[in-house]
Amino acid sequence: MKVKKLEDMQEIVSLSKRRGFIFQSSEIYGGLGSCWDYGPLGVELKRNVKDSWWKAMTYRDDVDGVDASILMHPQVWKASGHVDGFSDPLVDCKECNARFRADKIDLAADCPNCKAKDSFTEPRDFNLMFETTMGPVKDSGSVVYLRPETAQGIFTNFLNVQSTMRRKLPFGIAQIGKAFRNEITPGNFIFRTREFEQMEMQYFVKPGTQMEAMEKWKEIRMQWHIDQGLDPAKLRFHDHGTELAHYADAAFDIEYEFPIGWDEMEGVHSRTDFDLGRHAEHSGKNLNYVDQADGNKKYLPYVLETSVGCDRHILALLCDAFRVENPGEKDERVVLGFKPAMAPIKVAVLPLMKKEPLTEKARPIYEALQKKYKCEYDLAGNIGKRYRRQDEIGTPLCITIDYDTLEDEAVTIRDRDSMAQDRVKIADIDSYILNKFGF
Ligand code: GAP
Repeated sequence: MKVKKLEDMQEIVSLSKRRGFIFQSSEIYGGLGSCWDYGPLGVELKRNVKDSWWKAMTYRDDVDGVDASILMHPQVWKASGHVDGFSDPLVDCKECNARFRADKIDLAADCPNCKAKDSFTEPRDFNLMFETTMGPVKDSGSVVYLRPETAQGIFTNFLNVQSTMRRKLPFGIAQIGKAFRNEITPGNFIFRTREFEQMEMQYFVKPGTQMEAMEKWKEIRMQWHIDQGLDPAKLRFHDHGTELAHYADAAFDIEYEFPIGWDEMEGVHSRTDFDLGRHAEHSGKNLNYVDQADGNKKYLPYVLETSVGCDRHILALLCDAFRVENPGEKDERVVLGFKPAMAPIKVAVLPLMKKEPLTEKARPIYEALQKKYKCEYDLAGNIGKRYRRQDEIGTPLCITIDYDTLEDEAVTIRDRDSMAQDRVKIADIDSYILNKFGF
């Protein structure tokens, strides 16, 4: 059988729209630049990703979760360095006013948008934080920012979590939440957007043990991506080497080979005591940890950060899962080969025909399964078309109720990948699925 994997991101963009994974934001108004809405299937996929990350990262004895607010005290962003330093170099085309990141284009070449010559302004710093105002008075004192990363809500809660949960080093704090960046050149679908979701964890350690923590978390995080179903051949580490941010003493990215090439999906960075130190300085609060295991020594813990973009991981899952079997042939089949845990719909229940005795038999089967798994009940169109739709949205199992079911109390369960069909007694459906899925 011939199998074609994803070649062009556009195939995933159109499947996502056609089948209800991801729509453009405010589409009926012509859309809003690089903002996307997750549709009925996309939202299930996203929940699966977030649940999987949350379980992997917080259902362990050394990590707690938080859910900090998006709006924070403006001093937070002064302390973190975002007010003064979170910017990209911006140039404008004097001819057509298009804007570009100066570090991403050739300034000596013609303007990519209108082909004008010699038309770029001098590069200037453009801060990526979205600003808004808080309260009824709009003045400079009321400026707040939409957070550009979730990490700062973890640093500012370091003492709260450490004391309430009676934590000893090393321990971590994890968070999932929205982040906002006014990117100059967003694009490539949900790869780089202006509103996105991060899944971040800060692991607080005794200074001097950060490299040990780095090795441990590099391995845990890489394994998570593999366990999600991503092809290990499309995953690799990128070592920042000596090109480090001023606060870091080591940094690795987990990269995935997207159709646009290898690019960052997650950062695993050793951030020293930079952030806690800056917050201690700017807030005037003592954020020291008292190490009872080391003669009550007081120090600022070092931080090992893991930070993955939820949307970027979803894009990798969609790209990786996509395949076309026998392309261009009569029996062409588009499949999203998600692992069952990631599939938006786990089981589709399909009466062979939209006829009374069959639907009467099928409905209770569907209702019982729906209590446990996200299921779909589909009566529309011929059975072949219904199978194809489920293949294309990645449903691992389809259950068909036919006329024999009325006699033998058995159904046909079809496997998405092999298309093999098993005849299973209704009473055995639960154990059959449990055996297939492992949950
Ligand atoms: N706290 C560290 C931090 O925010 P980052 O490398 O700027 O580090 C971490 O972001 C991850 O967040 C990236 O690896 C990427 O997956 C995701 N991310 C960052 N900017 C994004 C954007 N504009 N759109 C989608 N995802 C983004």
